Amino acid sequence: MTDDQWFREAVVYQIYPRSFQDSDGDGIGDVPGIISRLDYLQQLGVDVVWLSPIYTSPQDDNGYDIADYQDIDPTFGTLADVDELVAQAHARGIRIVMDLVVNHTSDEHPWFVESRSSKDNPKRDWYWWRTARDGHTAGEEGAEPTNWESFFSGPAWELDEATGEYYLHLFSRKQPDLNWENPEVREAVYAMMRWWLDRGIDGFRMDVINMISKVTSLPDGKPLAATPQLGDGTPHFLNGPRIHEFLQEMHAAVFEGRAEKLLTVGEMPGVTVEDAILYTDPERREVDMVFQFEHVGLDIGAHKWDRSRVDLRDLKASLGRWQDALAEVGWNSLYWNNHDQPRAVSRFGSDAPEHRVASAKLLGTVLHLHRGTPYVYQGEELGMTNVPFASADDFLDIESVNYYRLASGAGGDVESILANLRLGSRDNARSPMQWDDSAHAGFTTGTPWSRTNPNYQEINAAAAVADDDSVFHHYRRVIELRHTEPAIAHGDFHLLAPDHETLYAFTRSHEGVDLLVLANFSSGDLDLAGPGLEGTLDLDGWESATLLLGNLGEPTAPTATLRPWEARILKR
Ligand code: NOJ
Repeated sequence: MTDDQWFREAVVYQIYPRSFQDSDGDGIGDVPGIISRLDYLQQLGVDVVWLSPIYTSPQDDNGYDIADYQDIDPTFGTLADVDELVAQAHARGIRIVMDLVVNHTSDEHPWFVESRSSKDNPKRDWYWWRTARDGHTAGEEGAEPTNWESFFSGPAWELDEATGEYYLHLFSRKQPDLNWENPEVREAVYAMMRWWLDRGIDGFRMDVINMISKVTSLPDGKPLAATPQLGDGTPHFLNGPRIHEFLQEMHAAVFEGRAEKLLTVGEMPGVTVEDAILYTDPERREVDMVFQFEHVGLDIGAHKWDRSRVDLRDLKASLGRWQDALAEVGWNSLYWNNHDQPRAVSRFGSDAPEHRVASAKLLGTVLHLHRGTPYVYQGEELGMTNVPFASADDFLDIESVNYYRLASGAGGDVESILANLRLGSRDNARSPMQWDDSAHAGFTTGTPWSRTNPNYQEINAAAAVADDDSVFHHYRRVIELRHTEPAIAHGDFHLLAPDHETLYAFTRSHEGVDLLVLANFSSGDLDLAGPGLEGTLDLDGWESATLLLGNLGEPTAPTATLRPWEARILKR
């Protein structure tokens, strides 16, 4: 491994600053709060912290709508606080990666304020401005320049009354898309990135970065089943025509000469394994790894709010295919949840009281033993669960609020809309971090901006750190294994028993060492010599293997029947 591939042995911890730790009692997490918890992160053993956006922002999408890339929102602190965070993190051997949101800005960013001020403003072309569709008058239904649906419901175009033209916003109306075709835009973004690196940060997590190149003729998309007046624009802006050119240009302009110490991860919805190889082949100088969504899309039906329990066979097939495809060239991120996803233990494990701890540990074991860089999302290391939201008012996220408004406005059944939200809302991931059993889980002395999960008295960091058998200490151990067992970062991956409904099993092999991971994704016992496993799970030679780590204490034998939600890592 060359030095610039250090991230293969690293584990990233994602902080959603709003919900992590409040230090001043305003109910919103902040940078000094993060600093006060660095010892906790050091104890967990993570190598990198990725911060969701803390820049100046009207907070329409909780900071993913940026009004000033080179300042910190007063809610979160100051630039001096960030400098202090970087210094204190570095002193603990932790790198700090910032979110880079440059597919769009806030509509309150000075660039957009200028751009919208007149048709001949020099920054007009920094965004996507178009006249009404031919034969239509601006403002009438269907007059939008394309039929694209926004990710946050409704059309992706907004009419600006002042100039009578529409601007494109793939996300909210307050998140206009930047026009990357314009070289001035690209230069301004690169200069801002260099400024941050000069300040001492260690890289970027690049928000929806595979959307920055659009097909410039902006064709209509195929009409959507649920909202046929709107269309799917994604083929015209996901992995668009100039995306590789833009990323290579960015690499040359920003990272050249200092890339080896940094981390760059591209958040890329709809990326295929073939694209991922191109994005992450080190020779091509684009990004270090992708953050892809295939495995978190398997339980989603016709639309985002139509969810069912994932079929384990599909999950194994998807993750396994990514393992195989990137075996020689390229690199992937590994994650079960982030700030946009429901809580992993509720979704892929079991949050029933008798299984929560075991299944949370099982999920950590399985994920971290794959090839790729694992991400731990705040609270995952405690086995934090989805939140029992009571009513529509509990949902605060713009995506959830818009869905509720449109679906209930169209006469949808309110109870089923709420049920969908409880399963799929991003608010599940954004409830306050559960630090201890004091009021508001120790997150704030004020009133938290988002509802605290009532289970904090049982599930919290103080209790977990004090209990050697907790989910926290299990995560600490799997993280440590990545640093000490080269087969985990570098070994070959081989999936076993792909068609079994509840067993997740695979080997990792490297320089004469073999690891076997066995995990029972069910609340019943799993006999490893039982039906459905003949010929697909050969345990010869594993009977006397060493147990590297298990989640339910020492089994009677390495290959003994797996207990409910039991996971073992064997070594020989
Ligand atoms: C992806 C981010 O993860 C999400 O939280 C955000 O809403 C969109 N990009 C828009 O920036």
